[in-house]
Amino acid sequence: MTVHKPLPHDAARLHVTGQARYVDDIPAPAGTLHLAFGLSPVAHGEIVGLDLAAVRAAPGVVAVWSAADLDPMPDVSPAAHDEPLLATGTVHFAGQPLFLVAAESHLAARKAARLARPEIRALPAILSIEEALAADSRFEEAPRIWAAGDAAAAIAAAPHLVEGQIEIGGQEHFYLEGQAALALPQEGGDMLVHASSQHPTEIQHKVAEALGLPMSAVRVEVRRMGGGFGGKESQGNALAVACAVAARATGRPCRMRYDRDDDFTVTGKRHDFRIAYRLGVDAAGRILGADIRQYARCGWSADLSLAVCDRAMLHATNAYFIPAVRIESHRLRTHLQSATAFRGFGGPQGMLGAERMIDHAAHALGLDPLAVRRANFHAPPAAPAARRTMFYGMEVTDFVLHELMAELEKSSDHARRKAEIAAWNRDNPILKRGLALTPVQFGISFTLTHLNQAGALVHVYQDGSIAMNHGGTEMGQGLFQKVAQVAASVFGVGIEAVKITATDTAKVPNTSATAASSGSDLNGMAVQAACETIRARLADWLAAEHQADPAKVVFAEGRVRVAGADYPFAEVARRAWMARISLSATGFYRTPEIHWDRIAGRGRPFFYFAYGAAAAEVAIDTLTGEHRILRADILHDCGRSLNPALDIGQIEGGFVQGAGWLTSEELVWDGAGRLRTHAPSTYKIPACSDRPRIFNVGLWSDRNPAATIHRSKAVGEPPLMLANAVLLALSDAVAACGDGSVYPALDTPATPERVLAAVERVRQ
Ligand code: MTE
Ligand code: MOS
Repeated sequence: MTVHKPLPHDAARLHVTGQARYVDDIPAPAGTLHLAFGLSPVAHGEIVGLDLAAVRAAPGVVAVWSAADLDPMPDVSPAAHDEPLLATGTVHFAGQPLFLVAAESHLAARKAARLARPEIRALPAILSIEEALAADSRFEEAPRIWAAGDAAAAIAAAPHLVEGQIEIGGQEHFYLEGQAALALPQEGGDMLVHASSQHPTEIQHKVAEALGLPMSAVRVEVRRMGGGFGGKESQGNALAVACAVAARATGRPCRMRYDRDDDFTVTGKRHDFRIAYRLGVDAAGRILGADIRQYARCGWSADLSLAVCDRAMLHATNAYFIPAVRIESHRLRTHLQSATAFRGFGGPQGMLGAERMIDHAAHALGLDPLAVRRANFHAPPAAPAARRTMFYGMEVTDFVLHELMAELEKSSDHARRKAEIAAWNRDNPILKRGLALTPVQFGISFTLTHLNQAGALVHVYQDGSIAMNHGGTEMGQGLFQKVAQVAASVFGVGIEAVKITATDTAKVPNTSATAASSGSDLNGMAVQAACETIRARLADWLAAEHQADPAKVVFAEGRVRVAGADYPFAEVARRAWMARISLSATGFYRTPEIHWDRIAGRGRPFFYFAYGAAAAEVAIDTLTGEHRILRADILHDCGRSLNPALDIGQIEGGFVQGAGWLTSEELVWDGAGRLRTHAPSTYKIPACSDRPRIFNVGLWSDRNPAATIHRSKAVGEPPLMLANAVLLALSDAVAACGDGSVYPALDTPATPERVLAAVERVRQ
């Protein structure tokens, strides 16, 4: 079988030779126009005047639109209808598009966009959490509260109280390919859009809405993205709609890509959070009650913030059973970019809160954090049903962390290295080392139940070649190859027989975003269903021809065997075509068993959980705060991996991206709400040299007890949260600088400045 094999990414050669085609590489017809937005320099204000004369007169400019020229103003929000394409009357963040320029070249459009003279009467801007709380500026009228048991009573009755908070920074997606779109007008007013998007159906929907067309008149094609990471779930809408509107108005193809600084300035990022906690803890470090408050800066529009904040709540206890929990979530509206999906979708923030709680409790009681983690874990599946229910009512039946953590503890030589590090820290006053081992329990499914569906379209041609299409999009994660392996396995052919084709709304309709790590779970099943339909037709027909049992027709090794006969697959395809057997089929899948009431915070939102654990060792320089990850050991649960090579790539990449979020990637807004870190010169993503020098990644390969595609598990997002170990290892190293009486309470990103400040704190 082709599944479970460590095949390389299908486009690996194209990626590394520069031949992979991204939206901006697609050859466009002569006469194509290039678009740029003019941006608001002000975070909040009233547009009093917008003098665009110089923009219109600039060389190469063909057309200019502001709010006055677009009626009705197209909306580019994913759901809430609160994002006009161009600012109308009021601006809500520094970077909001005010007007749109179409010019003969990309450079001409960008240069012209700078010539505008907007006159904006500034209004007070709400930027910080404090300002938003004071102004009661929020999405949803009141904080969302989910609870189980009586947390206040449990905390009051507990022997120990642990209280604290953590500030968790946001994160820029920094996909290597920036946002881009290309709209090509078709006959009769139809529109074809190429987009760099995780959500082609939403682009189709928003373009159709903007042009007043039925969705059937708009076709969206996505071959690949050069990275999405959640930043292309909704943030590509504006470019696609702008291109479509301009293409309709001018009759010319229009393309747009954000320059990197604009991409930083315009698009939403990971939500930054403050998480405050009050814990009632017993002498063994067991958390008896937890009162958790999450404050998220959501930015100016709703975007996906409610769902992101819901997921932050769902992961607020990570892998731990806490009998009494109360979680209060504040979704704050500010005059900043609208924060959006980012790998983990709120899960990382929620889970980091849980890991901080455990670490703080262990420090307060003078216990080993690993022992405290174990003491708080959900009970294993074999144990009686007590202590293994999530606070929202879902029973945890697949918990593997007891075994997985024990295995990692052994393979990473935890106890010996912990002792060795303690000895090092006693002997060395300047360089201090730290070690932490943290678990991940990540829920798999979209929490909006109706999104858990997928479709596929598969053709077998008369030469035996197979064209595979599904609603998932490729952003580097290897989804297309995994799903092609599923298709090849159904027909018993090699991977080379399966043609991977671009995602296309005309082939598979009504798709969900490729998100929530569910791409291969959903699309793998849909493609398998389509292939099985075709295979059953072939088996039935062949069996009838050979007077055999259809169940005994075998598809393997590129051949089809029936009643002693043995044909190449290609010959079967040709003869089936001659016999007028349909060789094309659709497939469909919806995730079973899930249900969720997000208002009550009750139900079974997830089909299953993905697990993992990481042990990270760091060193800090106590004179400068600089730090380095010396070693990382990871054991991650992929079920029966569809492709171990791609899964290890996801784990390594996720961990490094998570480490960047927690240690070096810092977003800085000035007092006027302008983002001052909008290029790699000031915003530091991890480089090759930042990876752990010793980096051991292992797969925990038990089959998924849930009936997923070939019993695999989703892997896209969960490994990002393995990087929590890095932050807590830094915290461990900082703690070693003092006498143990002060908890380091590191905020993130734990930049050298923050580490140095924490060192000084614990030394007082
Ligand atoms: N890996 C790469 N190389 N590039 C990406 O953009 N996005 C991540 C993850 N891994 C991403 C990635 C995110 S946010 C998600 S939700 C999943 O991939 C989506 O793909 P999947 O559902 O097929 O895992
Ligand atoms: Mo991923 S944040 O669900 O696109």
